Amino acid sequence: MSRLDSFIRRLEAQRRMLDWAAAAIEGRDGLVLELGLGNGRTYDHLRETLPGRAIHVFERDVTPNPASMPPVDRLVEGDMAQTLPAFAARHGRCAALIHVDVTTGVPARDAVLFAWLPQHVVALAAPDALVISGWAIEHALLETLALADGVPDGRYFAYRRRDRD
Ligand SMILES: C[S@@+](CC[C@H](N)C(=O)[O-])C[C@H]1O[C@@H](n2cnc3c(N)ncnc32)[C@H](O)[C@@H]1O
Repeated sequence: MSRLDSFIRRLEAQRRMLDWAAAAIEGRDGLVLELGLGNGRTYDHLRETLPGRAIHVFERDVTPNPASMPPVDRLVEGDMAQTLPAFAARHGRCAALIHVDVTTGVPARDAVLFAWLPQHVVALAAPDALVISGWAIEHALLETLALADGVPDGRYFAYRRRDRD
């Protein structure tokens, strides 16, 4: 498969997983946390899919498409290694959905480069919160879930935050 085909399939899987997660948290309280604003594409999709839901976006290099700039009070600028624990200290286990989209595009590299991230995700996820990610997140308090229909195993990852600490 060419890298272009692989990229397109990843984006299709990402959209399915975002839609699946948005439907799954309907009726549940909690923030949505978008980890990695980038160009703002997935943020834009989430805010369209979840109107009225507070979506907080974390990014160190804030250069999205101008149409996808989050409001200033929903943008957490800086290195997530620092901003995630600071946000957790202020808001606790506040999130109904966390979308992890910090990636180098190489999942094996991400697991090493972002080894510090799972503990912060767990600290922010409310009981039964959903966590979806483009790479496999390993943590004892994250239970692996089946993916949305049509998303092959390994193309995206979904977890439920177990309700114990
Ligand atoms: C794949 S892009 C996000 C794509 C975006 N969700 C979209 O749909 O356009 C990953 C983003 O994570 C950001 N990032 C990577 N490591 C970070 C860190 N430690 N702290 C904050 N942002 C980080 C990068 O600057 C990059 O913009």
